[in-house]
Amino acid sequence: MRQDTGQVFRIEDYRPTDYIISHTRLDFILSPHETVVTAELDIQRRASTPAGTPLVLDGDELECVSVEIDGESLPEAAFEATPQKLTLHEPPSKAKFTLRIVTRLDPSSNSTLMGLYLSSGVYCTQCEPEGFRRITYFLDRPDVLSIYTVRVEAPEQTAPVLLANGNMIESGKLDGGKHYAVWHDPFPKPSYLFALVAGDLGMLRDEFVTSSGHKVDLGIYVEHGKESRATYAMDALKRSMKWDEEVYGLEYDLDVFNIVAVSDFNMGAMENKGLNIFNDKYVLADETTATDADFANIEAIIAHEYFHNWTGNRITCRDWFQLCLKEGLTVFRDHEFSADQRSRAVKRIAEVRTLRAHQFPEDQGPLAHPVRPRRYREINNFYTSTVYEKGSEVVRMIRTILGPDKFREGMDLYIQRHDGDAATIEDFIKVFEEVSGTDLSQFSLWYHQAGTPNVAISASYDPAKQTFTLDIEQSVPPTPSETRKRPMHIPLAFGLIGPDGGDIKPSATDGATVANGVIHIKKRKHTVHFHGIASRPVLSINRGFSAPVTIAMEQSAEDLLFLARKDSDLFGRWQALSLLFTEALVQAFRAVRGQKTPVFDEGLIRAAGEIAADTALEPAFRALALTLPSEADIARDIGANIDPAAIHIAREALLKAIAASNAEGFAEIFDAMNLEGPFRPDADSAGQRALRNTLLDYLSVADGNADRAATQYRTASNMTDKSAALAILAHRFAEDQRSADALADFERKFGSDPLVMDKWYQIQATIPGTAAVDRVKALTQHKGFSLSNPNRVRALIGSYSSMNQTGFHQEDGSGYRFFAETILQIDKGNPQLAARLATAMRSWRSLEPVRREAAREALTIIATSKNVSTDLRDIIERTLA
Ligand code: PHE
Ligand code: ZN
Repeated sequence: MRQDTGQVFRIEDYRPTDYIISHTRLDFILSPHETVVTAELDIQRRASTPAGTPLVLDGDELECVSVEIDGESLPEAAFEATPQKLTLHEPPSKAKFTLRIVTRLDPSSNSTLMGLYLSSGVYCTQCEPEGFRRITYFLDRPDVLSIYTVRVEAPEQTAPVLLANGNMIESGKLDGGKHYAVWHDPFPKPSYLFALVAGDLGMLRDEFVTSSGHKVDLGIYVEHGKESRATYAMDALKRSMKWDEEVYGLEYDLDVFNIVAVSDFNMGAMENKGLNIFNDKYVLADETTATDADFANIEAIIAHEYFHNWTGNRITCRDWFQLCLKEGLTVFRDHEFSADQRSRAVKRIAEVRTLRAHQFPEDQGPLAHPVRPRRYREINNFYTSTVYEKGSEVVRMIRTILGPDKFREGMDLYIQRHDGDAATIEDFIKVFEEVSGTDLSQFSLWYHQAGTPNVAISASYDPAKQTFTLDIEQSVPPTPSETRKRPMHIPLAFGLIGPDGGDIKPSATDGATVANGVIHIKKRKHTVHFHGIASRPVLSINRGFSAPVTIAMEQSAEDLLFLARKDSDLFGRWQALSLLFTEALVQAFRAVRGQKTPVFDEGLIRAAGEIAADTALEPAFRALALTLPSEADIARDIGANIDPAAIHIAREALLKAIAASNAEGFAEIFDAMNLEGPFRPDADSAGQRALRNTLLDYLSVADGNADRAATQYRTASNMTDKSAALAILAHRFAEDQRSADALADFERKFGSDPLVMDKWYQIQATIPGTAAVDRVKALTQHKGFSLSNPNRVRALIGSYSSMNQTGFHQEDGSGYRFFAETILQIDKGNPQLAARLATAMRSWRSLEPVRREAAREALTIIATSKNVSTDLRDIIERTLA
C-alpha cells in the first residue's frame, strides 16, 4: 500500500511543469500476473526551463525494469527509480528527447481498482485521478496533455476484445495464439483519461450520425449473454448525443464511442476519451432485473459521462483543485438532460432531496470544504457531493442570474476559448462576465466559501400602505478552518401568492434588486418592500430551489397548507408540504422523548389524502409528495442530541396517522391503478409505479397485515414492484412467514445475479431495529457476498450505515464497532472504498451523548490502528478534529 507521507497539497503552490510530454506511445503485453508496459515518451524541455533541470516522474507501487533515453540505456547513476517516482538527475540538455520506460505490473493482485486491474477476468484501467502512475512513470497531472498511441497484445482466446482510447488503426494476429491492436487518439489528453480494456466480452452495436453527417460507431461491451440488458443504455447514449447537439451545439468528435461495463468499480463510471468504463450497475437493465430508479440512474450517468467529452475532456482541469470545473458543470448538464427527458418538476424535487440528504450534512459537518477546495491530503476524498452536486447548483445559479440566452453565449465562449486547455474556475467565471457585462466577483464566493448559507426572513403586510415587506438576513455558519464568512450573492426565486392562488405582481419594489421573479440578496441585511399589494400575499420562497441555502422563516401552518395546495410552482407545493411534515415530525420526536404520544394536525393529514387523489397532478409528483422525510432528514432538522430510536417512533406514528385517516381513499386509488400491459421504463410509467408502491406501504400500515405486499410480491412481473413489495414485507412484517418466504424466493430466483442480489442485501441491511447488526454481520458471510466488490459492500455495509438509523446507531455502540472493524478490513485492499464508507460517521457530533461517545470510540479504533491508508486516515482525522 502507498505510504502516507502526510503531505498537504495547496492550490497556491501550482506551477506548470518544467517538461512537457507531446506524444505517449504505450505497449502493453498483458498477462494476469506479469504485464509488461513499455512507455515511450516524447519529452520537451520548456523554453523557460534551464538545461539540466532534473525530471521527476510520478509512480505508485511501480516496478521499474529499464530506462532508456533516445535508444541508449541509462547508467545507474543517471537516474533513480523507486516504486513512488523516477528521477532523472541530469536529463539531456537538448530540447527534445525520447524516454523509454519499461515497468512490470501484477494486475491480478491489484485490489485498489486504480491503475490496471482484472475484473472478472477482464483487464481494465481506472486512472482518474492518480491511477496512471500505477501503470508507468509519468507527469501524472491533468495539465500535461499528450497524444497517445496504444498497442495492446494479449492471448486471443482469453482476450478477443482489445480496446483503448480513440480510433483503432491497426490489428493482427501474432504467434502463440496471441493478437494485438493499436489505438490512436488524435486529441491531446491528460493521463487520467487514458483507458484500456481487454477481455472476452459480448457487444451491443449501434451507430449515430452527428448533425454534420459524421457516422459514429457505438459499442457497449458487457458480459456475454447480457447484451440485451444494454439496450436501454444504448438508447440513453443516442439521446444524450442528440441532446448535446440540440442544446449546446456540441458534436461527438471521434469515429467510435465505446462503453464497457465492469463489475468491480469504485465509482459510477468514468469518462475516458472514446472509451467510457462503467460500473455494470449503471449499464445493465431490463424489467425483470432493474428498478425504475436503476433505469433513471443509467440514463443520467450515461449522459453524464458522454457530456464529459466536451466538459472535462476537450476542456480539462488545470489541477485537481479545479475538479468542479468539469464535475459541477457536467452534473448540471446531466440534470438538465434528465429534466428534458422526464418531468422537470419531479426531477428537480429528486435533485433537491439528494442535495439535502448528502451535500447539506457534508457542508454542515467536519468534512465541509469549498466547491473549489484550496488544500487536500488525498484527492480521492474530494469526489464529494459538494464538488459534484453543489458545484452543479452554482452553475445553475449562474444561469439564473444571467438568463438562459446569456448563459448559452457564455458556454459557447468557454468552449471556443478553452478547447484544448487545462482550465480553471476563474477562466469559467470570466466568460460569463464577459458575455453579460456582469461582475461575478461576489458570486464567485460560492466556489470559495464552504458552508450552507442560511437566509432568515420575516414578512409583514401593511394593509394601509398596501405594502408587503421582507426583512432578510443572510449568514454563513463557520466551517473547519474558515470561521469568518463574507456575505454572498444569493438569487432567491419567489412568488407572492394571492387568495386565488395566482401570483401577484407588485407595482414597485425597493430594497434589493428584484428581477424576473428573483430577489438578489447581496448584503448581510436587506429590507425589501413590495408596493401596490392589495391583500396579504403568501410568500413562496426559493422556488425551484434557486439557491442551495436553508431558509428560516416563521410561516403559519395555514400558509404552508395554502402553498401546498395552491402554489403555481410545483416545487413550491412539494416544499411546503415537506416543511409541514418536517415540523410535525420534529414535534412528534419531542413528544416521544418526553414519553408522550405524538398528535398530528388534521389539516395536514387531510392534505396528504387530497394530494394523493388529485389526478391533475402527475403520479410521480404525488408519490414524492406522500413520501415523508427520511429518518436522516429528520435528524438533520433536529440538529443536535439525536436519538434515532425516538425519530423512528415519531416517523412511524405520522405514517400510521396518514394511513389510518386515508385508508379508504388510498385503497381506491391503489386498486384503480391497473398496471397491465407491457412494461415501459419511461418516466410516466415509472411515476405510476412509484405512486402505487408508496400507497402500498401506507395501506400495509393501515391494514396491519402483509396481504397486499405478499400478493404483489407474488404477482409482480417487474423488479420495481417486486422489490418494493419485498422491502415492505421485510421491513414491516419480519414476523410473518411470508416475509421469510419472499426473501428465500428472491434468493432462489436471483442468487446467480450479483447486481440483483444487491437489492436483497440492501433490503435486509435496512430492516430497522437493534437486530440489524447481527443480521448484517451474518450477511457478510453469505456466499454471494465479498468485501472486495464495491457494489456488494455498498449494498450491505453502505446502506446499513447510512440508511438504517436505528440499526446502525445503537446505544451500546455495537453497530459502530462492527462498522469500524469492517472498514479497517476493507482498507487493506481498497482504501478508496473504505474512506468513502467512513464518511457515514461524519455527523457523529450531533448524536445524543451516549451514542456520541460510542461513535468517538469507534472512530478512535480506526485512528489508532496501524497501517491505515492515506485515504481513510484523512477522512477519520478530519471527522474527529
Ligand atoms: N470522473 C468520474 C465522473 O464523475 C468519476 C470518477 C472519479 C470515476 C474517480 C472513477 C474515479 O464521471
Ligand atoms: Zn463526472
